Amino acid sequence: MNDLSQLAEYYQHQPRLKDSGRLDQLKQIEEPSTVIHFLLGNLYSKEGDLSNMIHHLIKAWSGKLLKDASILEYFKSKNEYFVHDLVSIGNLLRGFIGAKESDVFYSEILKLQMNDQIVNRSTTVEYLRKKNNFKNYLEIGVFVGQNYLQVQPEFAVAVDPVPKIPKLEELPGHKKYYPIPSDDYFPELCKKDFPDGLDIVFIDGLHTYDQSLKDVINCLPFLNSDGWIIMHDCYPKYEAASWPSMEKSMQHPTFKGVWNGDVYKSILWLRSFRNDLEVCVLNKDHGLGIIRKKKPGMMLSFSEKEIKEMNYEFFEKKAHHYLNLKNVNSFTDLDELFS
Ligand SMILES: C[S@@+](CC[C@H](N)C(=O)[O-])C[C@H]1O[C@@H](n2cnc3c(N)ncnc32)[C@H](O)[C@@H]1O
Repeated sequence: MNDLSQLAEYYQHQPRLKDSGRLDQLKQIEEPSTVIHFLLGNLYSKEGDLSNMIHHLIKAWSGKLLKDASILEYFKSKNEYFVHDLVSIGNLLRGFIGAKESDVFYSEILKLQMNDQIVNRSTTVEYLRKKNNFKNYLEIGVFVGQNYLQVQPEFAVAVDPVPKIPKLEELPGHKKYYPIPSDDYFPELCKKDFPDGLDIVFIDGLHTYDQSLKDVINCLPFLNSDGWIIMHDCYPKYEAASWPSMEKSMQHPTFKGVWNGDVYKSILWLRSFRNDLEVCVLNKDHGLGIIRKKKPGMMLSFSEKEIKEMNYEFFEKKAHHYLNLKNVNSFTDLDELFS
């Protein structure tokens, strides 16, 4: 059963679902937005009929995405949060249906984002990979693999002590996974996996100043002279997102569901102490730190003590300057920035 309206019709005749009121949500089953919101709102239901329907919907919808031009149009009109929803569905597809289906789905949604020049962590990795004809990729902190499963290098390694990718054992042969903390990966395992050096690293593990900086420092000896490090969560937009402890952030009255930690301090440290690294932050996707081996145009002059003791209020006042923040909206902007 691949047609969504047929599916809705079929479920009209399931008495428990009819009475539950949920079918009202499916009235406009032809609308991709309805399908997505329905899925995201009901994904973890334990009701047998409902989880069956979700199973069918995910399968039907993912097939449709690959073929239906109207869904592509819908996709193009949405903002980056919609991309996030799609990526979440890729993860569910992997859990409910299969690794192969999710691999196809992820590569399709990446293509859509690349065509649309949406700038986020996954497309920035892909943009750099294609532009430089890079072969390899390391990701520190992968969670359920929403980024790791999208990116398309020839050889990739993921490091995360808490394995959460569904069907981990079915990762494609060119994508490795180590269920260990990043500190245990360096230097021996990294040397073994990347004898010719690292092309692209994406750092998104523990979101603290100490650990994120350690991750950068550990990667640098292996990073090729034309290689790049991308670091997530460099620009917290409000104070509750910026605390070094996730538990404390979550208790803050203004917490809105995002924890970036104090990774931003690593950018300040690198810009203050490394005169061999060019560092900036793209103002996209929670702040994407971009680090490469090149003389920097301008440096900061903070001491280690000043960075360690800095609070959010101080940082926020001149965040754009401290981060060397770059507003980018397309790959053309990236071309200009990285020329
Ligand atoms: C925000 S998630 C990563 C999301 C992923 N990069 C993506 O874009 O979909 C952070 C992950 O870092 C992992 N992590 C925490 N401490 C770590 C460490 N010391 N080394 C590697 N990964 C770590 C957590 O288990 C979690 O899965």
